[in-house]
Amino acid sequence: MSSPVLTVMTAAVRKAARSLQRDYGELANLQVSQKAPGDYVTAADQRVDKFLREELAKVRPGYAFLTEETGVVPGTDPEHRFIIDPIDGTMNFMHSVPFFAITIALERKGELVAAITYNPITDEMYSAEKGGGAFLNNKRMRVAQRRDIHDTLVSYEMPHRGGKDLPLSRAELSVLQGRVVGIRGTGSAALSLAYVAAGRFDAMVCRNINQWDIAAGILLVKEAGGFTSDPDGDKNPMDTGNILATNADLLPQFKDALSKARET
Ligand code: IPD
Repeated sequence: MSSPVLTVMTAAVRKAARSLQRDYGELANLQVSQKAPGDYVTAADQRVDKFLREELAKVRPGYAFLTEETGVVPGTDPEHRFIIDPIDGTMNFMHSVPFFAITIALERKGELVAAITYNPITDEMYSAEKGGGAFLNNKRMRVAQRRDIHDTLVSYEMPHRGGKDLPLSRAELSVLQGRVVGIRGTGSAALSLAYVAAGRFDAMVCRNINQWDIAAGILLVKEAGGFTSDPDGDKNPMDTGNILATNADLLPQFKDALSKARET
């Protein structure tokens, strides 16, 4: 049974998804602008961002927001904040690659308590609540149980051209290629984390990522029995913007591999 607030979040996401599905079918007509090199925003991102804020504010007035397209929107309720990325994987969306998601997390007193990540094209709804487990379309999710890094399939997000930490990312890819079976760059950090929660990817690594890209995914992975960490230590990825997500056995093995990359 979902809590009332998760039900509200799910309903808002489903409604917002309808406009995204329409836009996806008519991409040629979509307005696109560039925020920074390699960082695009479409009219669809802005429309979904606005729709979700309005829809959620109707039922949870006073909650604050942090969203990709609007930034910080202070609320009158000091305890609650929705963290929203209206389209995580905008580049995929713009290129008609059906791997993007609407992703929302709810924080209570600074702690992640509810999460939704939804791919409107595959109709896959990933959800989690603190202490309540993680689900994919109502089916319980568990992280993969592989124990040896040499057997793993990993999602690794490369920075955009001109992005930060390019030499480090190249070194990490090189070290990982020597240890894992396969590496995928998906273009949606939120969905990659949902795939870790679903046991599809064994691990996910990403640097210089924003809170709205990973907030929901962190709770999904945790509630599916996995762990998230800063790759370089024990700090919270929400604070550092660098994330490693995997299971308990693989966590030290990936940290070791990534530390070797930092030494090169
Ligand atoms: C992007 C995705 C991608 C990551 C980029 C993000 P956006 O988010 O999460 O996986 O590599 O750094 O900017 O811009 O599509 O919401």
